[in-house]
Amino acid sequence: MNDRAIGPVLINGEECAPADAAVSIFDIGFQRGYGCFEAMRTYDGCVFRLDQHLDRLEHSSDNLRIALPQRGLLEAWCVRVGGGGDGVLRVYVTGGLDPRHLGRDNVVVVYLEPVPDVPASVRLDLIEAPWHADGRVSELAGAKTLSYGPNLAATLGAKSRGFDDAALIGQNDVVLEGPTFSLGWVRDGILFTPSLDTHILASITRQATLETADRIGIPTEAGRYRSERLLEADEVFVMSTVKEVLPVTAVGPVSFVPGPVTLRLREGFKDLVATECG
Ligand SMILES: Cc1ncc(COP(=O)(O)O)c(C=O)c1O
Repeated sequence: MNDRAIGPVLINGEECAPADAAVSIFDIGFQRGYGCFEAMRTYDGCVFRLDQHLDRLEHSSDNLRIALPQRGLLEAWCVRVGGGGDGVLRVYVTGGLDPRHLGRDNVVVVYLEPVPDVPASVRLDLIEAPWHADGRVSELAGAKTLSYGPNLAATLGAKSRGFDDAALIGQNDVVLEGPTFSLGWVRDGILFTPSLDTHILASITRQATLETADRIGIPTEAGRYRSERLLEADEVFVMSTVKEVLPVTAVGPVSFVPGPVTLRLREGFKDLVATECG
């Protein structure tokens, strides 16, 4: 599995060969999924929206009450590892060895992963997500924690039913997000996306796509929408750091074709990356 990392892994800032990179089995990150993480895209050695990702990491670690290393240090580690070309820069923060002293003896891991193959489009199964914060207030709402078991199970369940991934629906049939991506759709030329008050992850790609839409003159609306709004859309797409803006060709039994607005957003997003990382 050493091909998972391009270049060295940083553990608390110390360079380590991927084969030697390890976390204690007593760490509550491993034992309880207590910790947080970020995944950022690097484009030719430039980390896209590093500041926004580190803001979100701070938000996650604040919610978990885990102290992070100084921002300048984290930033330097990301720039150092992210300088290795095109990749997915991963930052993991574990809870440490003692739940009474969160963040003591904890581990911050930073490494660069090769960009995985991304298909041209995805087919989504529509499923209920009773574990999702779904607008309810909870300690960890909006945090990107290590506890991704339910999300992974949703993806694997969708795959077992012949789809590529899942579209998660909350109580009262409200459209939320995917297990690792945000959702958007187009109806009558307007881009719709679930609002952040549904407590979906504050996706950086979703934010950049909304900015792109503003720039290229596509009206946008964020809110709480029932699943029929998604199923009646003209175009559907997903947004994430790894997938960027990617067309959806099925949601449950309903088929879609990649449409012109999605393609404009996809190109516009690439232009934004070129401007910020060029
Ligand atoms: C649940 C969830 N929603 C949305 C996203 C997309 O976020 P971003 O655009 O910051 O990658 C992710 C990314 O991993 C996610 O895990």
